[in-house]
Amino acid sequence: MFADRILSGMRPTGSLHLGHYHGVLKNWIRMQHEYECLFFVADWHALTTHYDAPEIIEQSVWDMVIDWLASGVDPARATLFIQSKVPEHAELHLLLSMITPLGWLERMPTYKDQQERLTSKDLSTYGFLGYPLLQSADILIYRATQVPVGEDQIPHIEFTREIARRFNHLYGRDPGFAEKAELAVKKLGSKKARLYKELRNRFQEQGDDEALEAAKALLDEQQSLSLGDRERLFGYLEGGGKVILSEPQAMLTAASKMPGLDGQKMSKSYQNTISLREDEMSVTKKIRTMPTDPARIRRTDPGDPERCPVWALHQVYSDENTRQSVAQGCTTAGIGCIECKQPVIDAVLSEQRPMRERAQLYLDDPALVRNIIADGNEKARKLAGETMRDVREAMGLNYA
Ligand code: TRP
Ligand code: SF4
Repeated sequence: MFADRILSGMRPTGSLHLGHYHGVLKNWIRMQHEYECLFFVADWHALTTHYDAPEIIEQSVWDMVIDWLASGVDPARATLFIQSKVPEHAELHLLLSMITPLGWLERMPTYKDQQERLTSKDLSTYGFLGYPLLQSADILIYRATQVPVGEDQIPHIEFTREIARRFNHLYGRDPGFAEKAELAVKKLGSKKARLYKELRNRFQEQGDDEALEAAKALLDEQQSLSLGDRERLFGYLEGGGKVILSEPQAMLTAASKMPGLDGQKMSKSYQNTISLREDEMSVTKKIRTMPTDPARIRRTDPGDPERCPVWALHQVYSDENTRQSVAQGCTTAGIGCIECKQPVIDAVLSEQRPMRERAQLYLDDPALVRNIIADGNEKARKLAGETMRDVREAMGLNYA
């Protein structure tokens, strides 16, 4: 079994393009071999900004899942599901909202940023303000240990950690906790119990982080502990309470530098994208008509690759040899731009070919996709249900 659990979500707000592939999906595909992974369609998140265009969301959900599968996300390795099919996310979001200070949400950098950027829409809504908390619920409900994010989402993970801490502080102190924890310590056996206590003291009295890590490692090795005792012993290490919601780590992923057709970052809002499964004719035409170094007007004018968006694509798609001969040919007017673009066209097409083929399988038999997601929804609900049991109990909500 894996020690780490990764969670990541993507909003269904349009078709995916090669920027998503190079920036996010390749990373998911690598991680699915190394960790337990849960990937979900964040349809409720999409509603926080697209509440006035639900039809876009509906259309995008299945296309997006097909895009994931086409690029190599493997349902045998990762659990794929749809957020709104796991209503426990909403329940946890609601319960966490009771303890979330408004100021924490208002201070979120993404809140003001996006409100200012998306001026065409009224985003002074309750849902939009609360979306980082919905994200926290997404993460905490699976007790994810790691969340891959770009720089801009780091504050959301930090916020999630603070919410978890606050929750544990408020609800993790069941009466008689210390006594129960002491009993659990005894169950470790005298030698390990002594070591546990010594490490706990070193952490609590001297803030020795290495002692904390050593104690956690000691607990990780204990196969025979019950789940309750294990949680108690983890909670007891750091102070008072039980850890009901565990704090995730941000896993910083390098920002995608995937250039678009105009040299700016590839992004739907710049209309400079190549979609993941775009047909060959269209891809060829888009690249053939890409702008080049503006100073290279005639075939006989030498060019400067640094001023050409095609060159940026060569950085992603071409090997050292090709790049050298292209740079040489450009600066000496030895090659024309059409000739220069051909290796990029070939590379993009050959990257997309297996994706289109894999997608065809699912397009021909949509039941395949529905089944993959139905399976994933079920697995996710089971995990979410376990956390919700603990949360309800901790909050005193488990009366019949
Ligand atoms: N907020 C992310 C975005 O807007 C999507 C998302 C929602 C997410 N919940 C998440 C990502 C949980 C990681 C973990 O793209
Ligand atoms: Fe750009 Fe290539 Fe033309 Fe040079 S030869 S301007 S790099 S497309």
